[in-house]
Parts: sequence; structure tokens; C-alpha cells
Amino acid sequence: MSASDLSRRPVVVVETAKALRDAVGAARRSGLKIGLTPTMGALHAGHQSLMHAARSECGFVVATIFVNPTQFGPHEDFHRYPRDLARDLAACEAAGVDLVFHPPVAAMYPADHATFVEVAGLSNLWEGKSRPGHFRGVATVVLKLLNLVTPDIAYFGQKDFQQQAIIRRMCRNLDLPVEIRVCPIVRDADGLALSSRNVYLSAEDRAAALALSRCLQVAAGMVGGGETDLALVRRAMRKELAASPRVEPDYATLVDPETLEEVDDCPLRLAAIVAARVGTTRLIDNLLIDRCPPCAQS
Ligand code: PAF
Repeated sequence: MSASDLSRRPVVVVETAKALRDAVGAARRSGLKIGLTPTMGALHAGHQSLMHAARSECGFVVATIFVNPTQFGPHEDFHRYPRDLARDLAACEAAGVDLVFHPPVAAMYPADHATFVEVAGLSNLWEGKSRPGHFRGVATVVLKLLNLVTPDIAYFGQKDFQQQAIIRRMCRNLDLPVEIRVCPIVRDADGLALSSRNVYLSAEDRAAALALSRCLQVAAGMVGGGETDLALVRRAMRKELAASPRVEPDYATLVDPETLEEVDDCPLRLAAIVAARVGTTRLIDNLLIDRCPPCAQS
């Protein structure tokens, strides 16, 4: 059976590691490349863009839908995180996913679960400061999913910029035999980055949330226009956020895309990253900015 035949089949849902391994094993024995898109459900066009990327490169596409408790802090939204399996399965099927792994929490974390993975340093910056333990939970569940699915390629969104940097580092540090693809952010027409948590925003919050993408555009405009004083750029980013009274900024800065450390010199590539609370919802966004070589040399 060819890859395109498989993509037309209805999505199959499995809940156990054994059923998952059997299905992936059969696909691999048929010579198909395995693609993985890990998700927590509440799927939107951003997730589907990862699935489309997987579909275009892999003969067998696995999506996981698992709201991972270990990446939520005690006062975060684990219990109210949006869950709608029927809608998510339809989204997976429309994006050409072959198999959905939807395990119960007790299967991923049995009572004796005691092993966690931590990418030191990177996990304590930015999001890690406001969400202690978050990236330990992310790294642990992603490693488990990679071990269960054993994909050739796994797809993550650039939207969670720190997450993708941590996952790439973990895979490199632990010599995991998987390629990590990072896919571009999908935005609404007005610039708001798609996020499962956007459903929490009121109409006023949603309008105010545009300050995040505007603040990134300010940075791109200044750096692209040749500004080399990055302290000035940071100030302008913060000013843009501060102009919206409903927006409570956490950080808005320019970092090295690999180390996530703040940069003050003029590297050829930097990442503008921003996080803010809008109403009761914490939002993040980012933009990769490439400096033209003549600016970099100035
Ligand atoms: O980005 C997400 O949805 C989650 O953090 C992930 C990677 C699926 C791990 O739970």
C-alpha cells in the first residue's frame, strides 16, 4: 500500500503502548517513514500545519493527544484545559493523520513513575521562571512519546520557542535518533499567533493581545532598519506592550536562538521573544529576525 493510499484511510485511535507499537511496527515493516506530531489536543490550524508537514515528508503520520499533567503547575489550567476529542480527531483526519495515540494519564504515569528529564539552564530562563517545573514535564513527556513512537521525524511549532529549543537540545544531548523539524508560527489575519489558550480571551482581551505581535514587529522593523543598539530596541518593544492597559508584560527581549541568552552585540540571527498576561491568560509569541550582513558588520 502506498503512502497516499494510507493518507486517505480514516484516522485510527489507540490508547495503549502495545497497540501503538504494533501499528508503528507494521508501518515501518512496509518501508514507511514515521512522522510524529505531539499535541495536547485543542487543535487549531497551527497544529494542522505540523500534521501537513509530516504528511508531506512521511508515509505514516502519528499524532498524540495527551494533556500532560506534569507540565502544569499546581495553580495552572490543567483541569480546565480545553478538551474535545471528537473535534480533534476530525482535525487530525482532515490533516491526513494515520494514527492518533490518546493514552490515559495512568498509562503514561503509573503510580511508580519516578523518572524525569531536565535540560538544565535552558529550562530555567524566560517561561521557566514563571512556570517552574514546566519544561521538566515537557521534556519528560516528549522523551516518553519519542521512545514510544520511535519516529524518523518529529514536528514542533516555533510558537513555543523555548520548548522547541529545549527539545532540540535534549535530543542532541541524549543522542536520540530522530530529526526535529520546527514549523513556522501560524497567525490569524490580524497577526495574533494561534494558540489553544486563545479561547480563554474575551473580545477585549483578544484585541489587546495584538500588542504582542506588534511589539515583535517593532523589533523587526528597528533591527531590519539597521538599529544596532539592542537596548533601544528592547525599550521600544516594552513601550509597545505598555501602550495596552489590559496587557501585563512579563518579558519582551532579544535572545540568541540557540542559547536563549539575551544578546547585546549584533548576531546575524536573533529571536525577539515576548510573554504577557492579557486578562487572565498568559500568552507568548516570538519572531526570528535575520540581520543583513552589512548591518551585522557595522
Ligand atoms: O506543545 C505542546 O502541545 C506540548 O507541550 C507537548 C509538546 C505536546 C508536550 O506535552
